Amino acid sequence: MIDFDSKARLWDGNPVFQERADRIAAAIQAAIPLNTNMRALDYGCGTGMLSFPLKDSLGHITLKDSSAGMLEVLREKIAALGVSNMAARQFDLTRVDAPEDRYDLIYTSMVLHHIPDTAGILATFQALLNPGGWLCVADLDQEDGSFHGIEVDVHHGFTRDALRQLAEAAGFGDLRFDTVFEIVKDTADGGARAYPVFLMVARKR
Ligand SMILES: C[S@@+](CC[C@H](N)C(=O)[O-])C[C@H]1O[C@@H](n2cnc3c(N)ncnc32)[C@H](O)[C@@H]1O
Repeated sequence: MIDFDSKARLWDGNPVFQERADRIAAAIQAAIPLNTNMRALDYGCGTGMLSFPLKDSLGHITLKDSSAGMLEVLREKIAALGVSNMAARQFDLTRVDAPEDRYDLIYTSMVLHHIPDTAGILATFQALLNPGGWLCVADLDQEDGSFHGIEVDVHHGFTRDALRQLAEAAGFGDLRFDTVFEIVKDTADGGARAYPVFLMVARKR
């Protein structure tokens, strides 16, 4: 289990995280006809890096995360910028029943690999979407466990075929995958290794 509370104050200081969020936001803008009537959910929002570039294209964004530390930083940013259409909420959909709220768009970046039951969270997202609503999932392509270190108990990315099958079984269609970013990390032998990040865009059937 990664302690995201302790990472929250340093999160925005990492330029790779900001560039990743900007690239994912641009890919979402290119893939979906966003408009200011849409209600969106940023799930596992962290400090909101992905939502700030999207806020002027959407009506309202609810940002949910299980980490109080991440949400504290996010709330400070929302207040400092005077943003009126973003609301931060502490929530873990894997532990608490989903609320009544419904959304036109759900996006989630680098969160799915932290959730053990992938089929379960996809079904929850499907239930939270209005008919025809959009789901965007950004995450790692399958890797050998070296991204977090094999001692960290997370999914080692996803194969696109397996995620496609799970998403279709959960009631999504019109699926597409694009590579939107590469995270380059140093390796123990002094080299560097690239971990591709995909964006899956799907629509509730
Ligand atoms: C790698 S960070 C990504 C943060 C942000 N989406 C970004 O791209 O900068 C993963 C985030 O997911 C959150 N998270 C992990 N498991 C979660 C769960 N079950 N429910 C809600 N949030 C979760 C963590 O607290 C953390 O903020």
